[in-house]
Amino acid sequence: MASNDGAIRNDRVVGVVALDDPVIDLIWVKDGLRGQGIGSSLMDHAEQTLGADHDDAELECFSPNLASLTFYRSRGYAEVRRYYEAASGIDKVVLRKTLVG
Ligand SMILES: CC(C)(COP(=O)(O)OP(=O)(O)OC[C@H]1O[C@@H](n2cnc3c(N)ncnc32)[C@H](O)[C@@H]1OP(=O)(O)O)[C@@H](O)C(=O)NCCC(=O)NCCS
Repeated sequence: MASNDGAIRNDRVVGVVALDDPVIDLIWVKDGLRGQGIGSSLMDHAEQTLGADHDDAELECFSPNLASLTFYRSRGYAEVRRYYEAASGIDKVVLRKTLVG
């Protein structure tokens, strides 16, 4: 990830986004640096990358992770379904956003 994506500060990785087209598989910002726009920058990068080949972006989030769900919804993601993940014993929320139009 290039530094202009907001994921590197002072030569240290402070945020990561991983794509498994068309799914945003993982997004993480170092604790203590959250709420400063790094996650938004990473999401912008992910959506631009996915938008080249896909009409929609999709991601999953544990249902108790309310801060992240609020973050995704504020970016235009809408819930499409929920399911129980046996491996974690926790419900997961599937969200989707249209990238075109
Ligand atoms: C979710 C996450 C990637 C967001 O990254 P971030 O750098 O905090 O996001 P931003 O700074 O761009 O904030 C965007 C908005 O979300 C809010 N927000 C989301 N999570 C927040 C947090 N933990 N602390 C502060 N603000 C948060 C911000 O207030 C901001 O709202 P605003 O635009 O109205 O001001 C980050 O909080 C994180 O790594 N969380 C832990 C890992 C995780 O749960 N990942 C998602 C798994 S589904």
